[in-house]
Amino acid sequence: AADVRDDLSEVLYTSDQIAERIAEVAAQIDEDYAGREVLLVGVLNGAVMVVADLQRAMKNHVQMDWMAVSSYGSGTQSSGVVRILKDLSSDLDGRHVIVVEDIIDTGLTLSYLMSNLASRNPASLEIMTMFRKPEASRMEVDVKYVGYDIPNKFVVGFGLDYDGRYRNLRDLAILSPHVYS
Ligand code: PRP
Ligand code: MN
Ligand code: MG
Repeated sequence: AADVRDDLSEVLYTSDQIAERIAEVAAQIDEDYAGREVLLVGVLNGAVMVVADLQRAMKNHVQMDWMAVSSYGSGTQSSGVVRILKDLSSDLDGRHVIVVEDIIDTGLTLSYLMSNLASRNPASLEIMTMFRKPEASRMEVDVKYVGYDIPNKFVVGFGLDYDGRYRNLRDLAILSPHVYS
């Protein structure tokens, strides 16, 4: 039977390294938000694993909600125009919100989301991403919590997909070129 792992060329971060870093970030969030309850806003689908693991590594009370967005435009290039496919169930007014992503690549998804969410009057609004690619540094919005900065390679696993697959890998790995070329 086909094994998902046969399609990988290199593991960049193991599940243990990911868990270790999430524990550090969770402890930092617990400290930064002591006495203030956080609402984690996960961006579907990629952020599912991060949101699940991050909140279980936290000791403070925490809540979660979800958004689904889609970038207009064809091919692999994001146009920067983002459409909301599923909106939050929660009201953000007066809440301490942390938007959670699996990865920031160009930063276009988050640039749009942050201005949209900021207009809903949260008490505070920050970003946590598990991985960040180099181009994201050109982004105008501040990212408060970063798991790991990674090279500009085609990576999958821990929520990141290629054509909807590979999200279930526990490691972050480089996809072997034979899969997409
Ligand atoms: C991926 C990833 C981020 C976004 C990052 O989501 O999960 O949400 O792209 O790219 P950007 O910084 O260039 O905007 P995708 O649109 O592939 O949807 P998915 O989460 O369902 O995989
Ligand atoms: Mn995503
Ligand atoms: Mg994707």
